[in-house]
Amino acid sequence: MRAIFFLACMVAVTLVEGGRGDVPAIADVPDYDETLDFHSFGGKELLNDDDSTKYRDCYDVMTRGMYQKSGLYRVYLNLTETQTVYCEFEDNVPSLVVMKRWYGYPSFKRSFADYTRGFGLPPHGDFWYGLSNMKKLVDHGYHILNMTMVDCSGQVKFVVYNWFDLGPLSQRFKLFIGHYDNRSTLKDDLSYNNMMPFATMDRPDQHGCVHSLHAGWWYNFCTLALPTGQRYYDYCGDRPTKETYICHHDGIFYKDWHGNCYSMPWVRITLTRSY
Ligand SMILES: *[C@@H]1O[C@H](CO)[C@@H](O)[C@H](O)[C@H]1NC(C)=O
Ligand SMILES: *[C@@H]1O[C@H](CO)[C@@H](O)[C@H](O)[C@H]1NC(C)=O
Ligand SMILES: *[C@@H]1O[C@H](CO)[C@@H](O)[C@H](O)[C@H]1NC(C)=O
Repeated sequence: MRAIFFLACMVAVTLVEGGRGDVPAIADVPDYDETLDFHSFGGKELLNDDDSTKYRDCYDVMTRGMYQKSGLYRVYLNLTETQTVYCEFEDNVPSLVVMKRWYGYPSFKRSFADYTRGFGLPPHGDFWYGLSNMKKLVDHGYHILNMTMVDCSGQVKFVVYNWFDLGPLSQRFKLFIGHYDNRSTLKDDLSYNNMMPFATMDRPDQHGCVHSLHAGWWYNFCTLALPTGQRYYDYCGDRPTKETYICHHDGIFYKDWHGNCYSMPWVRITLTRSY
């Protein structure tokens, strides 16, 4: 209990920029410039562009490179293969982030092509790193997945899987997820999607779940968690009363934490090397 409380405080204090806190009102959200999307996460705003050091990962960027600003960095997956990644350094903890939800834009109702190559441009908005980019990371040892969520009251919880892997494009990046870490403060709601191909509106799953849930995901029948769901604002700020209560169904939900009507204001998925 004490450890969880400490963790919550620590994260609460540190996730300030693009973190939790007051949820922005719709009016505060600037028009999202779709031209900012740079699908392959390459070529823009690299913070170590002029630096010839071959950093291995975000941890290396922070400890060896002494970089402290969250942003896009070039890292070396092996001696020759480079990759642009989004490193976040909150409270001196380096994380390679592959998905973030907070701003509420751009939309996650996207095509299979978009989910494959990625969309959104961190740190200027929400983003999805792209299945083909994630596949490159897992192929180079990034098998540990940590998904952190913050609810409307500011409480922080996370779930860690010590095995995350993806099949090839030809199998629609079939999900392999397991080895639920018992330090997790969220229950295991993702194993249910194990072995499922990724589905989108234009490449629907066999049960047609995506037609009612809209976001791209590894649907089974259908899912216990939807971090790619729509980010609704009405959940925080003015808490819905009994009369105005709406069950969204396609929001950002985690079944075992607030159920599937909820819409979480903040989600982050990170990948870490296991070797
Ligand atoms: C680095 O990884 C790529 C595949 O992503 C592979 O083709 C290449 O041979 C690897 N290089 C080394 C030095 O291992
Ligand atoms: C998962 O991430 C959260 C913060 O986002 C962190 O507090 C927690 O320690 C991480 N869990 C593990 C096992 O790495
Ligand atoms: C948690 O997992 C570790 C290693 O995977 C194991 O040693 C430990 O007994 C587990 N704890 C509980 C409470 O299940």
